Amino acid sequence: MTDNFTAAAAPGALPVVGHGWALLRRPLDFTASLASHGDLVTIRLGPLRAYVACHPELLWQVLTDDRTFDKGGWMYDKARALAGNGLPLCPHRDHLRQRRLMQPGFHRSKLERYSEVMVDEITAMTASWRDGQIIEVFPALFDMALRTVSRTLFRTSVDPESVEEFRRGMAAAMSSFLPRLMLPKWGEKLPLPMVRRLQQVMQDLLHARDRLMTESARDPGEDGGILSAMIAARQQEGDGGLSDADIDEQVLPLLIAGSDTVAASLAWALHLLVQHPDAERRVHEEVDRVLDGRPAQWSDAARLPYTSRVLTEALRLYPPAWLLTRVTTAPTRLGGHELRSGSTVIFSSAAVHRHPRFYADPEVFDPDRWLPHHIGRLPRGAYLPFGAGSRKCIGDRYGMVEATLALATIAHRWQLRSAPGSDARPAPHSAILHPRRLLLRVRPRPGTA
Ligand code: HEM
Repeated sequence: MTDNFTAAAAPGALPVVGHGWALLRRPLDFTASLASHGDLVTIRLGPLRAYVACHPELLWQVLTDDRTFDKGGWMYDKARALAGNGLPLCPHRDHLRQRRLMQPGFHRSKLERYSEVMVDEITAMTASWRDGQIIEVFPALFDMALRTVSRTLFRTSVDPESVEEFRRGMAAAMSSFLPRLMLPKWGEKLPLPMVRRLQQVMQDLLHARDRLMTESARDPGEDGGILSAMIAARQQEGDGGLSDADIDEQVLPLLIAGSDTVAASLAWALHLLVQHPDAERRVHEEVDRVLDGRPAQWSDAARLPYTSRVLTEALRLYPPAWLLTRVTTAPTRLGGHELRSGSTVIFSSAAVHRHPRFYADPEVFDPDRWLPHHIGRLPRGAYLPFGAGSRKCIGDRYGMVEATLALATIAHRWQLRSAPGSDARPAPHSAILHPRRLLLRVRPRPGTA
């Protein structure tokens, strides 16, 4: 690797908060703007200095060397204290063992079975819509995705009250998590409402999780889901495997990681289609040809290339997991710069996904940029909505299948139009990039209602 990279400090730091304000208030605009300053850009978050990798090659180095660029530091310490040491948060030393236990639950053969649950939940959601109804899109999709991931985790039906309890907790957690993580250590001791609120919310979430788990113990379902695959994998590992408590610890992160990411991707895709009638028409043509009046199912996913490209492009423009961090465990070089041990490096795919050097007209929504002959020209590290390396999303295929089936089924049956009061700007302060309040009016498409 050459060291021909440029480095810069981002302008516009405010006293005390640094760039924290811009990052939380204008998540997408701020991160996407950083690449114009350099390949490795320093920002200030309160007292903390962090490096943002804005060049695909640097991002690739960070993500594929998870020994040097580990999940750690005070932000992760706080996140683990709140949400546990499950797979998305655990450090390198615990990762391989946890990943091995979870991997069988995401095997392709299992996904095909989970897709039946996906179809069931997508159909239930769209069947509940009425002609002319205005849907607040993100919460509706979140419910659907949460119910799906709960059922594939536990292989049991989940009562609507538990889902609603969990959804409320998640909405509150997602909006207060980031500001809380960025609070300096001394701030934790202050009687700030933000500090107390998040503690309460996490307690509520754990309670909702326990309730879901108790329901699942009462009714374990006829065949195994992700949880039982983990239990089976642990039995195979013998004594060195995880304890019951370790397995419980995986549940909350899975419910979180598997619901709001899928809901956000779909919400952005629907928003983009409403804004781009040509693309919407092409999706309609494709789904009408392939589905012919029925909901999309597993075997259709591979026959919906344009619909998948719409999602791929939505994930480029609006990557839901937009802000993740690593901490260096040893002195190292990144882009020709010496980083001390303990340096914070930010992985924001939004910083490379709109980079004009790698994407022509980066702001333009163009699903056809994902046609096979274009993809070959993209350097590795330029498209990372699911991350890369050993910490790459374990649910990437799961998420893509669910989102493709949902998008196809919705587009086949319903025409969506923007409704008054809709606000599709990215929500501020949120750990997941989703629209603030996307309101769409639904009308049945001729011949499909
Ligand atoms: C479109 C949907 C999704 C997106 C955009 C997404 C994004 C991501 C990203 C960027 C990471 C890497 C985090 C990092 O490197 O710090 C990740 C990890 C993870 N995701 Fe997803 N995800 C999605 C769906 C899912 C689903 C459906 C599940 C589970 C049902 C899931 C479970 C996980 C887990 C457990 C990890 C941690 C993996 C590890 O550290 O080994 N995700 N996800």
